[in-house]
Amino acid sequence: MHQNKNKYTNHIPVLLNEVISVLDPKSGNTYLDLTAGYGGHCDAVLSFTTNPGGMVLVDRDNQAIRFLQNKYGKSKVLIVHNDFLTASKDLLKSNYRFDLILADLGVSSLHFNEASRGFSLLRDGPLDMRMNQDQDLTAEKVINTYSREELVCILKEYGEEPRARLIADIIVNNRPFNSTLQLSNLIAGRFKNSRIHPATKTFQAIRIEVNNELNLLSDSLDLWLKLLSVGGRIAIISFHSLEDRIVKNFFKDHSSSKYEAELNLINKHPITAGPQEIVNNPRARSAKLRAAVKIKI
Ligand SMILES: C[S@@+](CC[C@H](N)C(=O)[O-])C[C@H]1O[C@@H](n2cnc3c(N)ncnc32)[C@H](O)[C@@H]1O
Repeated sequence: MHQNKNKYTNHIPVLLNEVISVLDPKSGNTYLDLTAGYGGHCDAVLSFTTNPGGMVLVDRDNQAIRFLQNKYGKSKVLIVHNDFLTASKDLLKSNYRFDLILADLGVSSLHFNEASRGFSLLRDGPLDMRMNQDQDLTAEKVINTYSREELVCILKEYGEEPRARLIADIIVNNRPFNSTLQLSNLIAGRFKNSRIHPATKTFQAIRIEVNNELNLLSDSLDLWLKLLSVGGRIAIISFHSLEDRIVKNFFKDHSSSKYEAELNLINKHPITAGPQEIVNNPRARSAKLRAAVKIKI
């Protein structure tokens, strides 16, 4: 059905047909996209709901927001530049409710492809990694100012990096760092023969710390449940096991007690990309989609 590569950003929405299948959008439905990015999923959903006045698009990235404003600014779509936790609190305060909610977590292809954003360990750029360029904390601050113990902690917790202590020592003994390649090449030089690039887990850990990714997700899930109408559907796509664990446990907790359950799981096991999608869009390899219907308040 849909493939939908964005010609300006090269961002291909992951699991697009599967998202449409689990959300099952109908004409007139209201829709909240918590990570609207470059509009791939919301475009497809809107083609079914045909209800721009009932669509709210959230993203914390300035570039994504500019893109969404150019695309939908003249329609009745509400575009919110904020992190999804703050946006969800504001929407609840204003008594919004939605038939369909989607969170496609993590970073967009543009984040990795644009060296100047500092997300890529293969392209030289500043140590930035901020999704919202208005915030103060950057990767550079984390790498150049965190204590060895703090670095060990985030490398272990957010990178699941078994060599956390060694890598923290390498960082502390060689700072200051100014660029992504300076850091990734140094780590790669110390750990050869890795299946993946030896700095992959370090970059993941720093990115999660800079963007406070896991805390924002954990703190938002209850609010998303409140924002969903009874009979409404929520779908969440995660890209690594730490995120997926949080989503899985939340869905399990809210669907397991027989009479009290607020959610019915649409898929017992997460939906993952098929081989053809992975060939077309390697980013889809680690995507996991979980979805549920709200059955009571
Ligand atoms: C994987 S992309 C989404 C792509 C989108 N579904 C599409 O089809 O174009 C993730 C987007 O979520 C945004 N994002 C990540 N975490 C966020 C958060 N906590 N609050 C708001 N936006 C967030 C990122 O800036 C990025 O644009």
